[in-house]
Amino acid sequence: MFKIPPVSAARLPELLRAMPKAELHIHIEGSLEPELIFALAQRNGVTLPYASVQALRSAYAFSNLQSFLDIYYAGASVLLHEQDFYDMARAYLARAVQDNVVHAEIFFDPQTHTARGVPMETVIHGLHRACQDARAESGISATLILCFLRHLSEEDAFATLEQALPWQDKFIGVGLDSSEVGHPPEKFARVFARCRELGLHVVAHAGEEGPPAYIWSALDVLGAERIDHGVQALHDVALVQRLAQNRTPLTVCPLSNQKLCVFPNLKDHNLPQLLEAGLCATVNSDDPAYFGGYLNDNLVQVFAATDMTARHAYQLASNSFEASFAPEADKRLWQHRLKEVFELFVEHDY
Ligand code: HPA
Ligand code: ZN
Repeated sequence: MFKIPPVSAARLPELLRAMPKAELHIHIEGSLEPELIFALAQRNGVTLPYASVQALRSAYAFSNLQSFLDIYYAGASVLLHEQDFYDMARAYLARAVQDNVVHAEIFFDPQTHTARGVPMETVIHGLHRACQDARAESGISATLILCFLRHLSEEDAFATLEQALPWQDKFIGVGLDSSEVGHPPEKFARVFARCRELGLHVVAHAGEEGPPAYIWSALDVLGAERIDHGVQALHDVALVQRLAQNRTPLTVCPLSNQKLCVFPNLKDHNLPQLLEAGLCATVNSDDPAYFGGYLNDNLVQVFAATDMTARHAYQLASNSFEASFAPEADKRLWQHRLKEVFELFVEHDY
């Protein structure tokens, strides 16, 4: 067992930023910064219902998930051409590299685009090319996960899967996102069964605003290998036991939870309790352009607001590699690099 060196509170933010980590819950459309939204609107001749970057940014005051989703889908309306998807993903990946993210599994919402007449191929090719170029340039490993919008029908999800299958080699799995309450996982039982048959990885948003019952059905009905958010799990002792026993990862997003009023304040976030319960929790940014921060901002702010220490930091980074769908050899290398970075923070008394 690796012994975690004690690190003073003053040096903890530096350690959080420096440690290598994986990001497993990032919606690429949620990385569109207002400046890029306006630049793409101008490039594509799209009219936005906001007069300026400042006016758009000032609309980012959310009361719940739906109030965010309404603005998030409006922002994505500027994406029309392959180059737009490419530029968006390159911008995110460049930002992720600055945060010492060595591996990213990136969600995309094809229905948001195909419903506007953008071909599936345009979306997937733009995003995939960005992942390839980012890896060639900076070494970051990046893969794609196709998400179905749960406020739409299962039939629509099946049609989306059909459209994407010619490019199955360009995404590693499927997820489930958008408005949670009233759209339980079992609504998508058949399409996820088909995805499993196709050999795709399966994840699902559950227990963000929805009840623990949605986490149970994400696991038992959809066969989810990871739960996105999952913070409501702590209300159900048997569920916590199940998640802990199986090391089922939770991709937790502290700033998202704060901005969407899942917790009143960051100091009330249950991340420390999730870790203390032995769960494979990870920290992620969700929609960084909308929630006020990328991955390191999430880490630094949630650590500042709670009483977590270097031990928790190590656990979170280690969990992020364990929870990823990357090859085992890559995981071993990143775990080794994680230890090396922690060793640099050993405080010597000279
Ligand atoms: N929850 C559900 N759907 C989403 C989210 C989220 O946090 N972000 C983008 N789509
Ligand atoms: Zn999400």
